[in-house]
Amino acid sequence: MLYEKIIRPVLFQFDAEKIHNFTINLLTNNLLPGILNTLFKFGSEKLKVKAGRLTFKNRIGLAAGMDKNCTALKSWNALGFGFAEVGTVTPLPQEGNEKPRMFRLPEFGGIINRLGFNNCGADEFEENLARLKDELPEDFIVGVNIGKNKRTELDNAYQDYKFSFEKCFEHADYFTINVSSPNTEGLRQLQQRKYLNEILKSLQALNKELDEKYSSSAKDIYLKIAPDLTEAELDDVLGVSIDNNITGIIATNTTISRVTLPEGKYEEGGLSGKPLEPIANSVIKYIKQKAGDKLVIIACGGVSSAGDVKEKLDLGASLVQIYTGLIYEGPGLIKRIKKGLVKQKSDAD
Ligand SMILES: Cc1cc2nc3c(=O)[nH]c(=O)nc-3n(C[C@H](O)[C@H](O)[C@H](O)COP(=O)(O)O)c2cc1C
Repeated sequence: MLYEKIIRPVLFQFDAEKIHNFTINLLTNNLLPGILNTLFKFGSEKLKVKAGRLTFKNRIGLAAGMDKNCTALKSWNALGFGFAEVGTVTPLPQEGNEKPRMFRLPEFGGIINRLGFNNCGADEFEENLARLKDELPEDFIVGVNIGKNKRTELDNAYQDYKFSFEKCFEHADYFTINVSSPNTEGLRQLQQRKYLNEILKSLQALNKELDEKYSSSAKDIYLKIAPDLTEAELDDVLGVSIDNNITGIIATNTTISRVTLPEGKYEEGGLSGKPLEPIANSVIKYIKQKAGDKLVIIACGGVSSAGDVKEKLDLGASLVQIYTGLIYEGPGLIKRIKKGLVKQKSDAD
């Protein structure tokens, strides 16, 4: 209520990326997690779930792109997320595309962005991850979302993924291979069989090698896909994913489609939030039909209530991630969703 009536209208007066940076700086501050934890604490054994090699204290995660440099992990935990996916991180730091590059669509509950993997690079990212992981409770899961630098040729992309995978291996709980951002030219071509097979094969070999080196466990690998693939392309992606024995699919990244918006002229970039929801849901449904239990599904796209989460779980997802919903609904969203899920479970029992 306070967020919707007072805070959001004020924040929405300012440039979207400036407010994003302001908020991340605030959430990076060491004093904030204590306060957030007091306000938003809510846990229940009923929320626990196992997916792949990991047990999550709840199914609700922060989607990639919010915490690109991995600085605010303690706040994500304090807000009540079961897990956070940080990044996308690339081997070298990069500035991203020209500004402005992030736009709200308040009348539709959406965002269009064309940031283009602005991030601090894998060295600094790993330092942040190592330091913060030490200070977090063990049951808070951290996924690292990795991408390629803008200048890296598609044929060499697998080397970028290997670089960040190795760099972050020790402290990441799982990895996400991002081949689906629409804002790095050519990136989505990496969803084609020949590139994807090379990337996943080389990462699984490295996974095995590092598992032995650190005598820890090999990491779950998820592939994050675009919602704009044809069924034939999706079949290829699922086939290559199963053949390479990865844990699952994150469905989906932002869409370049504008079919769910009224006719009009819109900014270029990836569309997220409510207009993405039906598109993402049909991809999730298709994956479940085709892959059954061979791939874990992490669902993402347009979630802003417990009902939205339930819909994605009913379609076959095990976990759910949120980005745009948090901007529209505010920090109380996670607690509200968890309470809703517990109630649904109690009603069903
Ligand atoms: C401003 C912005 C930046 C994003 N950056 C990334 C990113 O760096 N890597 C990534 O995999 N997804 C990124 N995403 C996509 C989200 O992780 C998510 O897949 C998408 O927004 C759909 O979820 P939502 O409707 O809950 O926002 C970004 C989304 C937004 C809105």
